[in-house]
Amino acid sequence: MSTFILFTFEFDSFIPGKYYDAEHNPEGVINMATAENSLMTPELLQHIHSHFHLDPVHLKYRVSLLSGFYPNTEQALRTYINETFHPRELITSDQIVPGPGLGALYAQFIWHTCDEGEGVVITTPYYGEYSSFPRDSGYHARVKLVAAHIPRDVDPLSLAAIEYISAAVEASNASGTRIRVVILCNPHNPLARVYPKETILAYATLAEKFDLHLLVDEVYGNEVFPSTVVPNPTPFESVLSMDVGSLTDCDPSRIHVLAGPAKDFGVSGLKVGVFVSQQNGDMVKLIRASLGPIPISSASDSIMATVLNDSKFRTWFLEENRIRLTKAFERVAGWCDFHKISYEPASAGVFVLLDLDPILERLSGKGASDEVKVDNGVRIMLDNGVFLRATIGAHDQIPTRFRMTFTLPPDTMLLALRRLEKAFGLREGWSS
Ligand SMILES: Cc1ncc(COP(=O)(O)O)c(C=O)c1O
Repeated sequence: MSTFILFTFEFDSFIPGKYYDAEHNPEGVINMATAENSLMTPELLQHIHSHFHLDPVHLKYRVSLLSGFYPNTEQALRTYINETFHPRELITSDQIVPGPGLGALYAQFIWHTCDEGEGVVITTPYYGEYSSFPRDSGYHARVKLVAAHIPRDVDPLSLAAIEYISAAVEASNASGTRIRVVILCNPHNPLARVYPKETILAYATLAEKFDLHLLVDEVYGNEVFPSTVVPNPTPFESVLSMDVGSLTDCDPSRIHVLAGPAKDFGVSGLKVGVFVSQQNGDMVKLIRASLGPIPISSASDSIMATVLNDSKFRTWFLEENRIRLTKAFERVAGWCDFHKISYEPASAGVFVLLDLDPILERLSGKGASDEVKVDNGVRIMLDNGVFLRATIGAHDQIPTRFRMTFTLPPDTMLLALRRLEKAFGLREGWSS
């Protein structure tokens, strides 16, 4: 039996009791830590209820679905990525693998690219502290997520970050943890903005230099939005749309992409994602084979196919989602401005990073360590029925930041902000 245990606790153990539910558990804790998007849920449910019906085939193995006359996500996801990410060459069926969420696809990828004890490098702060990238590197590949620490005065998305990644790779290789993969999350989680093209190309050059795979997680690619805070956000460009082979000396077979409709369609629970690799057919075959025991469920597959195949609805939905993201973000930005809470100007994804340092210091007293301030802040938030996750565990260079999901249903969001005001002893008077 394995003696490898990376973490012994579960996400749920952070939130005592059952989550908030307006009807069933109004006193429960509102979870603002998980990147879930509820802004378009009513419209999506309406579409699903009027277009999708459970048929016998949805209760059977997925192969029955794929071999029959029913719509399935294999084709629908390809069209969705081709039409929204504009790859240089259209993605073909042998370049894409659908799977039960990005985390599962990531874990398979790491298993195929690394041996036990090897490493994957990523800049700080990154997505996940105990779960997510660290968890999915550790289980089942037993691979270490190696943090490339970016100093506070350097933008992790800028070209200036590259030298810190190189240094981390060299140090890790020298210490015996051979780095095999570099991860780039574009748009960034948790910084909530898009990488400039020049940095993406510099990652490709770095991958070639150190003989690495470059895995680009583009799950928020369809969720870039303008606002009064960031009127002209950097437009999202998928690495699939770049001629990396000509623009750099990187062999394009090193480049792979993770994507999917989970965040932009607010369907994280359906567990549908895709792995795309246009120049590395062997990798595609390996990942497809290893997903055998963990396919997407037939029902999820068909629901998503029904939604994505309706191109008129899909196009409207993605556009309307961005409009609502703007509105939801501006509401939270207004709240932060009113309370003089500093935040990272978000222009992509479903969350915003808040720096709560002055509040935490007031709550814990001057001189308290960052860890004490953060722990105390979390406890006080929980006592007041709301939970935000601190990014200190993801080696954030600003250790007093918390990631707040702003895409809860609008009335739940308002209640959560009111609970935070109470928890932090903030002044009254903000109206949404
Ligand atoms: C950047 C990023 N990648 C992957 C995932 C995990 O996706 P899934 O739920 O499809 O496993 C998330 C979820 O929050 C994410 O933010």
